Amino acid sequence: MADFITDRKRTHYCGAVRSQDVDKEVVLMGWAHRRRDHGGVIFIDLRDREGLVQIVFNPEISPDSHEEAKKIRSEYVLAVVGKVRRRPEGMQNPDLATGEVEVMVTDLEILNESKTPPFSLEEGQEISENVRLKYRYLDLRRPQIQKNLILRSKVAAATRNYFQSHGFIEVETPFLTKSTPEGARDYLVPSRVNPGTFFALPQSPQIFKQLLMVSGFDRYYQIVKCFRDEDLRADRQPEFTQIDVEMSFIDENDIMTAMEGLMAHIFKTCLGKELPLPLPRLPYRDAIGRYGKDNPDIRFAMEMRDLTDILKSSEFNLFRETVETGGVIKAIRVDDGKQMSRKDLDGLRDFAAGYGSKGMAWARVNAEDWTSPIYKYLKPEEVKQINERMEAKEGSILIFSADTPGLVNDTLGNLRILLARKMNLIDPEQFAFTWVTEFPLMEYSDSEKRFVSTHHPFTSPFMEDLPLLMTDTGKVRARAYDLVLNGSEIGGGSIRIHRQDVQAMIFNVLGLGEDEIRLKFGFLLDALEFGTPPHGGLAFGLDRLVMIMSGAESLRDVIAFPKTQKATCLLTDAPSTVAVEQLMELSLKIVK
Ligand code: AMO
Repeated sequence: MADFITDRKRTHYCGAVRSQDVDKEVVLMGWAHRRRDHGGVIFIDLRDREGLVQIVFNPEISPDSHEEAKKIRSEYVLAVVGKVRRRPEGMQNPDLATGEVEVMVTDLEILNESKTPPFSLEEGQEISENVRLKYRYLDLRRPQIQKNLILRSKVAAATRNYFQSHGFIEVETPFLTKSTPEGARDYLVPSRVNPGTFFALPQSPQIFKQLLMVSGFDRYYQIVKCFRDEDLRADRQPEFTQIDVEMSFIDENDIMTAMEGLMAHIFKTCLGKELPLPLPRLPYRDAIGRYGKDNPDIRFAMEMRDLTDILKSSEFNLFRETVETGGVIKAIRVDDGKQMSRKDLDGLRDFAAGYGSKGMAWARVNAEDWTSPIYKYLKPEEVKQINERMEAKEGSILIFSADTPGLVNDTLGNLRILLARKMNLIDPEQFAFTWVTEFPLMEYSDSEKRFVSTHHPFTSPFMEDLPLLMTDTGKVRARAYDLVLNGSEIGGGSIRIHRQDVQAMIFNVLGLGEDEIRLKFGFLLDALEFGTPPHGGLAFGLDRLVMIMSGAESLRDVIAFPKTQKATCLLTDAPSTVAVEQLMELSLKIVK
């Protein structure tokens, strides 16, 4: 029997047929996406990874194919030979890249049948994500997800090209390793050969890339899987991919410049967009001060301003008492105040309560006065100063938050984003990058009752801040930087400590004992004693970057086989129990 695949080679992807192909004979292969019967003629949208094309079975052109086509159901796999023709006037579909043409089939072979899929693959269908993930191989046929993964492949290729042409060397680092210092919970792998011992899957290649600098590789990169057992959200997966980088004999400006070059190259080659360089930089204290977050979305303004000095002796008890107990008062301004009803404004208190904050107030600014529950408590001078500081105009709405600095930043920072989304202030086409720099080196942990590293313990402090290490620990700044895109942290890194005396001081302040340090990082510390060059690096979250570039809402839409919010894989049913024999081999016993 003649074999269609061997005898007739595919000439075009379905989605690639164009009006230049009119009158050509084409051979197409793909899946039956949708079928319509019209007055004896059968129309099928044939789909492959490049898109859809309409193929037509007309009994007058090929009675055999038309007869055979009656058997075709959704997702059957077809091979067809046919002639491309321009669609009749009025039948063109401008929404489809192939919409000007159709293929008049002369020969059909059904290469395979398909069971009825558990959900329709047509655009715009609401399908439960659990069903999509269980049948991920079908879900992955959907054009939108294919587009995302094709973009992901392009971003990875552009990344490799950039690094290769800038003198970086790709080195693979182990997955079966020891705990790394990123601070999440480890995924552990029991060792059969050494009973009772475990590997940890790396939360990042952090230690290995530093060792590679000690070894003199000078510029390293890797596109690499990382594993973190942490609470999941839409922008967090238990296994995710980093674009990981480390460089020697550089300072933070060199790294930031090189990484801006990478971003510009990726956006240019993958989206055709020019990024204006250099990217803006925002010290951490300004990011928190103005946007309430260390990952600010700067696509819109609505910045918060501090009013504590104006209101510190206010007759309004809440404000005065807040300041007296070390709190702050800040506000944001909504320009188009008409968009907020009295009900919206009164509802703000519940919003604040959701963040554990009680102190929220509002004012509608009029030509002469304010409409506001707090207006009667304020002196005219205070109102005037607030109007000035907030640059308020008639019609503006001011929203105040009074509480501890943490709660005020949290409440207003999140309110700002909520309002911008509600009022359509965010341009979905825009890509707004900002570096956030000068992070605190350490933060006080109430639960651990000690200072903990904001990044990891190898992050270098600003040398000029070192005198504060013992006296004002929280004020010491780290030579660390994050890259934020549209309000999402897409990358972060730092200059590392390369001097043992400084490293010892840091461990000391962190309260890490000699034994603990040796156990966790002994091999790195040993290596650092053998001529370590000044070095630093950064890692991008590839998944997050592609998610934002593709406009997807969840990392799951840019990862071929992702995990659920509960860190399970519905397709393979992992994680799952294992046979008792396997456990015994690993010297493990499950405690119920
Ligand atoms: P960090 O922990 O900041 O730094 O990670 C770097 C970037 O990885 C992404 N990311 C994640 N993406 C998806 N799911 C997750 N669970 C997840 N966790 C992190 C983020 C983040 O910015 N070794 C350091 C880098 C360095 O200092 O060079 C590190 O791993 O986009």
